[in-house]
Parts: sequence; structure tokens; C-alpha cells
Amino acid sequence: MRHLIDPLDFTLEETTKVLDLADRIAESPEVYSHVADGKKIATLFYEPSTRTRLSFESAMLSLGGKSLGFAGAEQSSATKGETVADTARVVSCYADIIAMRHPKEGAPMVAAEKSLIPVINAGDGGHQHPTQTLADLQTIRSLHGDLNNFTIGLCGDLKFGRTVHSLINALVRYEGIKFIFISPEELKIPDYVTDMLREKGIPFQEVIRLEDVMPKLDLLYMTRVQKERFFNEEDYVRLKDFYILTAKKMKLAPPDMLVLHPLPRVNEISVDVDDDPRAVYFKQVQYAVYVRMALILTLLNIHVD
Ligand code: NCD
Repeated sequence: MRHLIDPLDFTLEETTKVLDLADRIAESPEVYSHVADGKKIATLFYEPSTRTRLSFESAMLSLGGKSLGFAGAEQSSATKGETVADTARVVSCYADIIAMRHPKEGAPMVAAEKSLIPVINAGDGGHQHPTQTLADLQTIRSLHGDLNNFTIGLCGDLKFGRTVHSLINALVRYEGIKFIFISPEELKIPDYVTDMLREKGIPFQEVIRLEDVMPKLDLLYMTRVQKERFFNEEDYVRLKDFYILTAKKMKLAPPDMLVLHPLPRVNEISVDVDDDPRAVYFKQVQYAVYVRMALILTLLNIHVD
């Protein structure tokens, strides 16, 4: 049985197939509106979420299936001490596929080991978020036009941001990608990531000032400072507004540089950027639904001719 815990669980070819299917779904959603009739997705969210949980539910509903689940560990038997492995085994009797978000790194992997149905990692701590990555790849492929040969700036909380870690993991398999990591010293990209890039001979640069590198970027991936992963409030308050992308700063960017953000945004992108045609973060939200529909069909082995 297949699960999606890390973007690398799918080969490049399998990833492309999911993105291609998402394209076909986007073109003719009505063709797919009953292909998962009778199927159920369980959304087991031990951490807050708006987009990811609702988009999984929306994806399953749009395929004709149904959803059940909980939003918040306090509503589940985790409060009684049940392990995620036991929960996954139990939920295997109620649903056909699980999407799990958990504050602990590795929890969806542990669940997958005991689950009798496919498990999708919907975000585990500061570790990985493979379905956001599929949405990011689809946004880049559709709006930038290619997943090869570009310079991407990743800006903000590169230490705790799981969407950043997942996206880098996925992008290293394409050709000609250059990374520019833009963060304060305290929120630097982890060493294990830069070690991996060095080993693979993939070029990267680490900088603090966004303005300095903006003219060189094809894509700018902004992120929120991950308040919930900080050990003390003081550090968060000091760092939370380190980067604020404004319409004025966007003047430094190339005319075709796209701005992505997994959302939610706090202060790091000013609302005056939203109307800039280069700001594509709300389009990312729509791509996320189509890629999750494609992923559900792939993991459930539902093929539509
Ligand atoms: C992200 C997450 O949960 O990691 N949100 C999302 O799923 N789109 C990003 C974030 O919370 O900052």
C-alpha cells in the first residue's frame, strides 16, 4: 500500500503523473465528480489548520466521496493517551484514506506503519508537508511554465517552516535550480538541508536582506514565522516582522517574478501586494485542491480513462 509521508516517496515520474492528473481535473472537474462515490477520507488533525483540512475535505467531496474526522487533538482520544498508531488502525475501519497533521515530526510515518489504508502526511511538526509541495510545484509549473532552470528565493522562517523543507526536497530533483535562502540568523535553513545541497552540487546562497537579492529572483516563496514552534514568546515577537514584503519593495523585483506563500500570512506580505499580478498565493490555494484530488485518486488506485 502507498502512503505519502515525504515528497520523495513518489518518484519524479509519479509526481509528474499526479500533477498531470491535477491538470486534467482542473480542465474538466465534472468528469471526476463521481469517481470516488462511496469512498471516505478521515482528516485527523492534531494541530490547527484551515486550508489543508478543508481542501482535503473539499477534494474528496468534489470526487463524490465523503469526509469525517477531527480538528484538534483535544477532541480526540489522544487526550486519553491513545497513540497515533492505534488511532490509525482504528480509523482504518471507518475510512478509505487518512490525511493526518501532527505537531510531532514523524507521527504520520508511525501511523502509516500500522494503518490498513493509505496515510497522507498533512504536515508533521517542522519537518515535511508534501501535499503543500505538490500545490507549490503545480503553481510553479502552471504559472512560471517550467519546473527546471530558475532561481528561487525562500524567505522567512527557514528553520521551522515545513513547507520550505518539503519544497527543497522536491525541487532538487529538477535541473538548473538555484536556491537563495533569505532569513535572519536565528531562522536559518537547517544544516542537514545545506549539507544535502552541497553533496548534490546544487548552488545556494544564504543572505539576510531580501531587497539585495530580489532583482535576481524568478520566484519568491515567502513564509510565516512559525510562532507555535518557538520556545519563548520574546524571540517570536522580535523576529515576527523581520520581513514585510510591500508594493514598494515589489518594484525591485523582475516584472515576471512570482510571489508564492503557503498561507496563512500574518504580516510578512502587506495586503497592498495582493493586487499585483505577480502575487499568486491565492491561486496556489486552488491548485492545492486539484492536486489533492489527484493524490486521493492515485493512492486509492482509482483510474479514470
Ligand atoms: C503551512 C503549514 O501548515 O505548514 N500552512 C499550510 O498548510 N498551507 C504554512 C504555515 O502554517 O505557515
